[in-house]
Amino acid sequence: MKHILEGLEKRRSAARLGGGQARIDAQHKRGKLTARERVELLLDHNSFEEFDMFVQHRATDFGMDKGEKIPGDGVVTGWGTINGRVVYVFAKDFTVFGGSLSETHAAKITKIQDMALKNRAPIIGLFDAGGARIQEGVAALGGYGEVFQRNVMASGVIPQISVIMGPCAGGDVYSPAMTDFIFMVRDTSYMFVTGPDVVKTVTNETVTAEELGGASVHTTKSSIADRAYDNDVEALLQMRRLVDFLPTSNTEEPPLWPSFDDDERYDHSLDTLIPENPNKPYDVKELITKVVDEGDFFEIQEAHARNMVVGFGRMEGRTVGIVANQPMVLAGVLDIDASRKAARFVRFCDCFNIPIVTFVDVPGFLPGTAQEYGGLIKHGAKLLFAYAEATVPKVTVITRKAFGGAYDVMASKHLRGDVNYAWPSAQIAVMGAKGAVEIIFRADMNDPAKIAERTKEYEDRFLSPFVAAERGYIDEVIQPFGTRKRVCRALAMLRNKELENPWKKHDNIPL
Ligand code: HXC
Repeated sequence: MKHILEGLEKRRSAARLGGGQARIDAQHKRGKLTARERVELLLDHNSFEEFDMFVQHRATDFGMDKGEKIPGDGVVTGWGTINGRVVYVFAKDFTVFGGSLSETHAAKITKIQDMALKNRAPIIGLFDAGGARIQEGVAALGGYGEVFQRNVMASGVIPQISVIMGPCAGGDVYSPAMTDFIFMVRDTSYMFVTGPDVVKTVTNETVTAEELGGASVHTTKSSIADRAYDNDVEALLQMRRLVDFLPTSNTEEPPLWPSFDDDERYDHSLDTLIPENPNKPYDVKELITKVVDEGDFFEIQEAHARNMVVGFGRMEGRTVGIVANQPMVLAGVLDIDASRKAARFVRFCDCFNIPIVTFVDVPGFLPGTAQEYGGLIKHGAKLLFAYAEATVPKVTVITRKAFGGAYDVMASKHLRGDVNYAWPSAQIAVMGAKGAVEIIFRADMNDPAKIAERTKEYEDRFLSPFVAAERGYIDEVIQPFGTRKRVCRALAMLRNKELENPWKKHDNIPL
């Protein structure tokens, strides 16, 4: 018996070596961890249970039948826990055929996807792979199709997270693109549909991998990636932090973690956050970190559309999604990128029962041909649509400007905002005083005294929260220092909220 047991250990040890020591060394030399090292760091110590360690490819073309058969076939799959909660994991092993996807490799991933969906737990993919296994042709393409289909079926049911940790191409970027979040590692990870060589051949463009699909491109320009980290270790530890914010599925509430922060904590520094001059910016992140538990805020897409801030925090130990205009960037205006960014985040929160807290300071939509030609109408409508369809608790605080259509869009009462507060500094109007007076009192434009009088009249009447409060569009005008307490109490009051949209196959959000 002993030699049988030893035989198993021998086979396991061989499988754990993946593509061999030389390729593992090459991986380390590039500053990357191996698939198994990554899984170890991501999961709780000793919690990983591996599946399909001995699966091998069955390809015969291009000498594959005579070549190496490496157990595991380029992907490590299984499940484990993060702070005690079950997650499913697959990690591409770049040391085996560059992590490329064969028919059997795909079957390993789909097995894990099916288990994650059936058992309602998040799935995390660690990507470091060259796309379809070229030697397998359509069998590999079919494998990707199976993975993609499952990505779509799981969307909105369980959280799906992708971490890009090496050069990724083809199907290894399309599958992540259908998951909820994509994270990258700076300087070692790239994402492109076709690499620099193909680009050169087809378009004659000379471009480096970094310029084509590095973390800086995808976290700023394309917005494909939600965040980037300096190395594998940091990325994996941050994934553990993110998972702690998320529910296991769309039928579960987000986890409740112990909070040491007083839910009735006043912060008097908020009383002076808004500058005297309404055209002066302030940092809305200061407000966010002063309101959420222990100042802990996990920002999503921090480097893209910085005029909008979105991310996760906790109030009384429970996860909330924060959406906030950022006056420090473009005065917090709503443009195409900000609308798309916030719309996707609001929809994620709504899928997964995460209440949304919105901080509003928005001068309107950004005017101009670039925005109109780019489809601002359709992209702005995405955010409007997302807020309007969301049935999770929605608490809104208008701190300063809420002008025009942007007032409606940003979780207003009219879009089923549950509790809508305003600070005394709020200005809720169709537009700012200057623009308004120039339009409605055009005849007086040559009389500066009259214009000054009209402007004062407009400011006194409209640039306050009270016209909206008189109509019940604002439930209460609150003191800035008490914002945390008021929001915590509102969320507690809304904990049993029940609201359902009419039955439909799915909606038709303007894509
Ligand atoms: C088989 C592959 C492979 C692939 C890499 N390898 N990609 N084997 N199929 N797709 C192997 C290499 O032969 C090599 O094997 C090892 O992996 C490491 O690859 P290198 O090229 O040496 O590494 P590097 O220089 O770091 O380049 C990594 C790379 C590059 C950028 C990923 O390998 C590459 O461009 N690969 C092809 C990418 C691609 O076009 N894939 C098909 C996409 S189409 P050895 O034995 O030397 O270690 C697709 C269809 C899905 O995915 C469609 C979805 C809509």
